[in-house]
Amino acid sequence: MPDEERLITSGFRTGDDEQEQTLRPKALRDYVGQEPIKQNLRISIEAALKRRESLDHLLLYGPPGLGKTTLAGIIAAEMGQNIRITSGPAIDRPGDLASILTNLTDGDVLFIDEIHRLSRSVEEVLYPAMEDYALDIMIGKGPTARSIRLDLPHFTLVGATTRAGLLSAPLRDRFGLLFRLEMYTCDELATILRRNVGILHVDADEDGISEIAGRSRGTPRIANRMLRRVRDYAQIRANGHITREIARLALDMLDVDVLGLDRVDRTMLATMMDKFSGGPVGLDTLSAMTGEDATTIEDVYEPYLMQLGFLVRTSRGRVVTPAAYAHMGRKPLVPPEANGEQISF
Ligand SMILES: Nc1ncnc2c1ncn2[C@@H]1O[C@H](COP(=O)(O)OP(=O)(O)OP(=O)(O)O)[C@@H](O)[C@H]1O
Ligand SMILES: [Mg+2]
Repeated sequence: MPDEERLITSGFRTGDDEQEQTLRPKALRDYVGQEPIKQNLRISIEAALKRRESLDHLLLYGPPGLGKTTLAGIIAAEMGQNIRITSGPAIDRPGDLASILTNLTDGDVLFIDEIHRLSRSVEEVLYPAMEDYALDIMIGKGPTARSIRLDLPHFTLVGATTRAGLLSAPLRDRFGLLFRLEMYTCDELATILRRNVGILHVDADEDGISEIAGRSRGTPRIANRMLRRVRDYAQIRANGHITREIARLALDMLDVDVLGLDRVDRTMLATMMDKFSGGPVGLDTLSAMTGEDATTIEDVYEPYLMQLGFLVRTSRGRVVTPAAYAHMGRKPLVPPEANGEQISF
């Protein structure tokens, strides 16, 4: 399915831009869920403000659409500071980063999205900048070359990544605070949707909201996108009022099932069950089966299927669980234990 038509991809899509801006909470108290992160942040922010220091460097990681960029903006706002936004792939050469760093002012928050995609040479500029607020630059070439050290403003680096595993150890170690964003519960998604229904002046009842929340794969970005689709449907078919029935019809039409699984999830599960007796199946095989690249499967599809308890990772590949068989209306042919590996569900 071309990406443009897809509802599920939790990655950023064209067209979401404007809506994401209006729906993004600006203060910590409007940021729903992620309680442990908020608790820690409140303490760190208050302490830094009291000491009149900049906040420790901070790494946010987790699947796309869970609120990393949003949280970075909130952190800057709560600190009363400006945020500068860039991303790993946008910083080509060490000189690019040097110029970003020298243009910061004390207290600024520098947000680097997709920080795992920084090149090694750029990363090396970041080490002394994070540790000592210093920039080492080489002057001259060959035997007469010497390095001088420039002082940098005391900034806070906020890094975001969907793949903390790809971050080099020296970079990871230089963050004082590391937070993993978790998928949201249906109640939390309903709270987010309730707020956005108000902002967008949508007419929706509680049951309608809870139906959308249940199908949003634990992801606020998907919840917001579905709300927009269901609103369209309601406008054309039901005088604009969103009920459970309207949400159900609209989302069924978009091929999203009651748990938020789309055709790719279902193809993946069905093929694993029908052709591989439930697994283990390797990532490459899953990728070939669904036509999705391996990164998308790892970042977008698997986390949710694992969260639902439909899929487990083993050293030999992915295995579907009895709960997945039940959801797909199939009986397990071979109990997964018989596949040669001890698995506990
Ligand atoms: N905790 C939250 N409370 C309310 N709304 C949220 C929350 N987290 C995310 N959102 C909503 O979800 C949308 C997507 O969030 P955001 O862009 O911050 O995700 P992200 O983790 O940065 O994704 P990516 O990895 O793709 O960059 C935001 O526009 C915002 O409206
Ligand atoms: Mg983001």
